[in-house]
Amino acid sequence: MSPVPIEIVLPGQTRVDALAVPISLPLTGEGARIVDEKLGGRLGRLVESGELRGDRNEALLLHVDAGLDAPRVVVVGLGKRDELDLDAFRSAGAAAAHALQRVGGTLAWLLDDSLDVPLPEQAGALVEGTILGGYSPGAWKTQDGEKRPKAVERIVIGHFDTQELREAAERAALLAERTNRARDLANMPPNELNPHTLGERAKELAQEHEHLTCDVLATRELDELEMGALSAVGRGSRNEPRLIVLRYDPPGARGDVVLGLVGKSITFDTGGISLKSATSMEDMKGDMAGGAGCLHGIGAVAALGLPVRAIAVLAAAENMPGGDAFRPGDILRAANGKTIEIINTDAEGRLVLADALWYARREGATHILDLATLTGAMELALGDLYAGYFANDDEWSERIRRAGDRSGDLLWPFPLHRRYRRYVDSAFADMKNGSTLRQGSPVLAAKFLEEFSGDGPWAHVDMAGPGFLERSRGDYLRVPGGTGYGVRLIAQLTELLASEL
Ligand code: BES
Ligand code: MN
Ligand code: ZN
Repeated sequence: MSPVPIEIVLPGQTRVDALAVPISLPLTGEGARIVDEKLGGRLGRLVESGELRGDRNEALLLHVDAGLDAPRVVVVGLGKRDELDLDAFRSAGAAAAHALQRVGGTLAWLLDDSLDVPLPEQAGALVEGTILGGYSPGAWKTQDGEKRPKAVERIVIGHFDTQELREAAERAALLAERTNRARDLANMPPNELNPHTLGERAKELAQEHEHLTCDVLATRELDELEMGALSAVGRGSRNEPRLIVLRYDPPGARGDVVLGLVGKSITFDTGGISLKSATSMEDMKGDMAGGAGCLHGIGAVAALGLPVRAIAVLAAAENMPGGDAFRPGDILRAANGKTIEIINTDAEGRLVLADALWYARREGATHILDLATLTGAMELALGDLYAGYFANDDEWSERIRRAGDRSGDLLWPFPLHRRYRRYVDSAFADMKNGSTLRQGSPVLAAKFLEEFSGDGPWAHVDMAGPGFLERSRGDYLRVPGGTGYGVRLIAQLTELLASEL
């Protein structure tokens, strides 16, 4: 897999399968005006008749006989001018990809210089939307090749070549492709993706990049490290747990920072002995979406060649009931020596993360970001769009939020107050992993994780809502399933760190 190739050439210089024109009414953009003129005023007439409104997600596919270097024009809406943001361009990109899913091939984008959004940002978001919107989760359908939806294979930006445009468009193509790879992982059925096969995927990824290496720690090594929490969660399954570690060590990196990425990678969460109900349990194949985001996040950082050292630690296990499964009432000892009373085996994510956080610090992580589909209550609170996050450091928190806003992986701050610590107090052990009180479950989980976060900035992102969609959000991702949440966030955050060099 490689990103969709990008070309930047003036309109009219290359033949394409479709020409895409993003519009916002009134039709003032130069591209739209020229296309309208070449089509003898057809766009203007469609606007007058009300067939073309320029609404977000709107796409109108026209077949044209002559006059343009494409047999098709797809006009896509950006929505209202005063509501324009990067998402408007991402949505336009996805709308075009969808309109062209029977065509595939090469697509050329015109930009609109009459809008407030700088052209490189327009190009980046259009490319990103085209690739994300062309994603199909139906890889397991047996339909013949002809009927499969086709993705755009090559994207042309109709403009004279500038370094800024090229960099923005190529970066976007890369990030969108990595995001789609993370979606693939989350969509994989749990009979294909387990801790072992996830580790194999991670090794393959490391092979692709010069300065990226991968180690997979299995049962014996987890025992040697005394990772009693991760081991306990994995014990009910024949698919044994793994700690999957990727290190990115580029030449010329800044010396003072090692970014630690810690991902919850439960390849299937039945709840264990505290068994979940059957409703939507199939969605729990997506309980490794945090790990998928970290894996392809560090891969994207390596592919972009960013000069920041990073380590990704994926805590992979399958949470199953079974004769050897851990139980409520068990008291575990985590790798940092702290003891944990198990109240609920379905609160397994915080357990595997506990050992992974400790490991990331031990391996030198100075700044940690963990990504986890951790609590149903966070999805109840924020729905499928925003993740909630907790941080022990204001500067780190602010950086993460800025990266989230720009990248499209949205997140919103939650409190990590000292006096919430009593939520995890246990009568028998250093802490407990859950509570029967129905209060602040995302906060309880964060306070639990804090016990393992070591010294230095740390943030915990609870992405239970946006990590895996039960139904389409109606936005540029278009389809249900894995979203690749975290890939763009991690790349953006690392770019922020690199720019402070
Ligand atoms: N993986 C789930 C959380 C989840 C639920 C993610 C729905 C996405 C959608 C997690 O392991 C879990 O089961 N959490 C429990 C914790 C509780 C038992 C303390 C929850 O939130 O109900
Ligand atoms: Mn669970
Ligand atoms: Zn879970």
